[in-house]
Amino acid sequence: MEGWTVHNYQVVNSTNLIAANLPAWTAVCAKTQTAGRGRFQRGWVSDEGGLWLSAVILTVPDSLRWRALPLAAGLALCDALHAAGSPPLRLRWPNDVLVADRKLAGLLVEQFRPGLAVVGIGVNVRNEPEKQDASLTSQTARLSDIVPNPPSLHDLTLLILLSLRSVANQMQFDGFASLLPRVNQLWGRPQNVELDLGSHIRVGQFSRVDDQGRLILSDESGNHSAYDAHQVVHLTEKRTA
Ligand code: BTN
Repeated sequence: MEGWTVHNYQVVNSTNLIAANLPAWTAVCAKTQTAGRGRFQRGWVSDEGGLWLSAVILTVPDSLRWRALPLAAGLALCDALHAAGSPPLRLRWPNDVLVADRKLAGLLVEQFRPGLAVVGIGVNVRNEPEKQDASLTSQTARLSDIVPNPPSLHDLTLLILLSLRSVANQMQFDGFASLLPRVNQLWGRPQNVELDLGSHIRVGQFSRVDDQGRLILSDESGNHSAYDAHQVVHLTEKRTA
């Protein structure tokens, strides 16, 4: 496919681990993963019928500009899913793609070598994650439930890779700030959230990220604090009455 070399597998442990050794602008797809990786060392159910993809992106080592790649990749994924016919989706920081409160897709961006980022993308399409793991009951959404005729996994992969390439180009030439207004639109309305920071919990209101991709939390007194994605073990959205 234009701009990308794609390797297809039946079964792998994790597409991210295969992509870890590949050059920039290479992508890895697998029908199933035996050890799908989620954020914070969590697993990721990767049964047949879902889209399990990892794409290697050329970045600049130690560049602040590329720190927000996970958020830009979330935007690219939402754009591609929209092009595949989905209704408007929302993001839960940093990059869970949700339909209402259910998770349709997740991203795990990993850096195995300087200057190369592996963007791992999992999308529930026609698979049945809840049958693999009962704790996911009522937690997940599938593209086939919200789009009458979802594209094939092959076509969806192409849409995602095109969108990723375009967003990566914009990051490189114009910086993340040029994508920020579109990223900030995807959170929906301001949310009361609880942040698990590992050693303690913070609560406040989340409405936006800054131009380095950090979550800005406002407390009751109107003070703002900024958090990087690696600092936040878990974000829980709190219902407002
Ligand atoms: C998360 O929400 O925790 C991130 C999930 C990322 C899953 C994808 S599936 C393709 C790629 N390979 C992996 O092992 N993980 C990512």
